[in-house]
Amino acid sequence: MCGIVGVVGSRNATDILIQGLQKLEYRGYDSSGIFVTDEEHNEHLIKAVGRISELQRKIGIDVNGTTGIGHTRWATHGKPTENNAHPHVSESGRFVLVHNGVIENFLEIKNEYLEGHHFLGQTDTEVAVHLIGKFVEEDGMTTKEAFCKALDIIVGSFAFVMIDKEEPDTLYVGKNKSPLLVALGNGYNMVCSDAMAMIRETHDFLEIHDGERVIVKADSVEILNEAGELVSREPFVAELDLSDIGKGTYPYYMMKEIDEQPAVMRRISSKYTDENGNVVVDSEIVQAVNDSDRVYIVACGTSYHAGWASKMFFEKMTEIPVEVHLASEFGYNIPLLSKKPLFIFLSQSGETADSRQVLVKVSKLGHKVLTITNVAGSTLSREADYTMLLHAGPEIAVASTKAYTAQIATMAVLAKTVGVFRKNTIAEEFDLTKELGLVANAMSAVVAEKEVIEAITAENLLTTRNAFYIGRGNDYYVSMEAALKMKEISYIQCEGFAAGELKHGTIALIEDGTPVLAMISQKEVAAHTRGNVMEVLSRGANTIVISSEECAEVGDDFVINTVHPFLTTLAMVVPAQLIAYYATLQRGLDVDKPRNLAKSVTVE
Ligand code: F6R
Repeated sequence: MCGIVGVVGSRNATDILIQGLQKLEYRGYDSSGIFVTDEEHNEHLIKAVGRISELQRKIGIDVNGTTGIGHTRWATHGKPTENNAHPHVSESGRFVLVHNGVIENFLEIKNEYLEGHHFLGQTDTEVAVHLIGKFVEEDGMTTKEAFCKALDIIVGSFAFVMIDKEEPDTLYVGKNKSPLLVALGNGYNMVCSDAMAMIRETHDFLEIHDGERVIVKADSVEILNEAGELVSREPFVAELDLSDIGKGTYPYYMMKEIDEQPAVMRRISSKYTDENGNVVVDSEIVQAVNDSDRVYIVACGTSYHAGWASKMFFEKMTEIPVEVHLASEFGYNIPLLSKKPLFIFLSQSGETADSRQVLVKVSKLGHKVLTITNVAGSTLSREADYTMLLHAGPEIAVASTKAYTAQIATMAVLAKTVGVFRKNTIAEEFDLTKELGLVANAMSAVVAEKEVIEAITAENLLTTRNAFYIGRGNDYYVSMEAALKMKEISYIQCEGFAAGELKHGTIALIEDGTPVLAMISQKEVAAHTRGNVMEVLSRGANTIVISSEECAEVGDDFVINTVHPFLTTLAMVVPAQLIAYYATLQRGLDVDKPRNLAKSVTVE
C-alpha cells in the first residue's frame, strides 16, 4: 500500500527519495510524487501516474534539493490521477504533505473549517494539509502548533510528513496506526514507512509511537507526546540485509521466494531448536497457549489460509480446539468467546489493518495475544503480548509464497512445543526437525521440476478464463491458497473447493474444457476425491491431478514426495505456486506487481 519517504539535510534529496520509493514499489501503488527544496527555496513538485519510472522521466537534472518528501499512492479516495497523487499542498501552496492511511472525518473537517477552500482532487489528504495551512495563515498559529492541532482533530489512521516551504530545514512528522520510522543518517536524517526504503543509507532507526509528533532536522530529532512533552528514545538497529531485498539473478521476486522455501523450512527448524536438539519456544508463550481453552487464529488472505492449514495438527498435538477467522469479519461480529481464549494473529507484514483492529479489540477485552509475523518490530508484533518470528527473510513479491509455508511451519513449532509440554503422545512422537527436513526435500524436488510444471500450465491454462482447485482436508485448505495465488496474479477466476461440495451446486459451472486441478495427498479420502475427478471429467472438465507418492496413480500429472500427513500443505502448495507463476508469465503479465493489489494492506 502507500509508501512514504522523507529526507532533510542531504546534498542529493532527489536520489535518496527515488531510491527509497523504488524499494517501496513492491508494496503496490498506482501513482507517485516528490517535493524537494533547499535553503535557497528552489522548489520542485513532481507527480506521475503509473510506475516510478514515469516519475523519473519527468525529473530533470535541475530537480534537486537538501530536503524532500516522496510518496507512492494506492488509491482509496479518488482515482489514480496526478491531482490525487501526493505530495499535496495547502490553499496558498506553502505547506506540502504526504500521507498514508485514511482520514475518517475528512468531510466533517472540510465542512467545519475549510469553507471557500479550493481542492485539486478528491483525497482526504488534501483536506489535512489545507487544515494546517488555515491554522497558520488564517488563525495565526505557528507551524508546529498548527500541525499538532490538526493531528488532534483528525480521526483515522495516518502517517504524515510535512514541509513548510518557509522552513526548508525541517520535516514535521506524526502518526496514528500507520507505520512510520525515522532513519538516522550522518549529517542528515530520513523518514520512511518501511525500514527497507532507507536501508541503503543506514541501519539505525527510531520508532515513532501513535500520537507522537516529531520534528526532524539534519542533526536532531525531537519527539513529543500528545501532551507536548519531550520523549527520549534509543534507536534500534534494523537487521535487514541489502542482498535479502535484491532479486539476484531471478527475473521475478516470486520465483526467488518460491525457491527459498526449502531453506526457510530448515532455518525455522534451526531457529527454534536448542543446543540439545529440542524444539523450543519462549516458555511464556507455551504457558499462555497451555492455559487457554481455545485458540482463535485471526488473519487475512494467504495468512488466513495458513491458519486453516495449521488447525488440524494444532488440535491433534495440543488437544486445544482451534477456530480460524477472517479478521475483517471477526472484529465487527465477535462471536461468543470461550472462557480463556488465546488469540494468534498470523501476518506476514505485521501491519494489516484488518487484523490490527481485532488485536486492539481483543486486547482491550483483556485476552492474551500472540502475533506470528515475518517483520520484527511491526505494529502487530509491538502491540501483542508475545511474538514469534517467521525467519523467512523479506518477502517482496505481492503474492505471498514463503511466508505462507513459514507460517504453517512456525505453527507446527508452536503446536509441537505446547503438545510436548502437555505430554501429548502425538506431539512427543512427532519429530518436527526430521519432518521439516523431509518437507524441505520435497519442496526442492518440486522446484527442480519447474519445466514440467511450466509445460502443464501452458497445456491447460493458457487461454482459460476460469479454473477450480479441489481437495479434501488439508488438500482443501491448500486448494483455497492455490486458487488465491492463481487469481491474484494471473487474473484467471479460480476457486478452491472442498471436493465433496462441488456436486452441491458449483458443478453447474463445469463446461467443456474447464480446468479442474485436483490435489490428492491424503490416503483416507483419496478415493473420494478421485470419484469427484471422474464426476467433473464426465461433464467435460479438463482435469489435472497433483498427488503425493502414496496416493499417486498412473496418469497423474504431477507427484510430490510423501511428507508427514500434518505437513502435506507445505509440499502440495509449491506446484500450485509455480502454476500461478507460469500462468501469469504465459499471459505476458507482471508476476510481482499484480493490478490493484498491495503488499502491506494498511487500510480496512
Ligand atoms: C496474497 C497475500 C495476501 C496477504 C494478506 C494478509 O498473496 O499476500 O492475501 O496474505 O493481505 O497480509 P499479512 O499476512 O501481511 O497480514
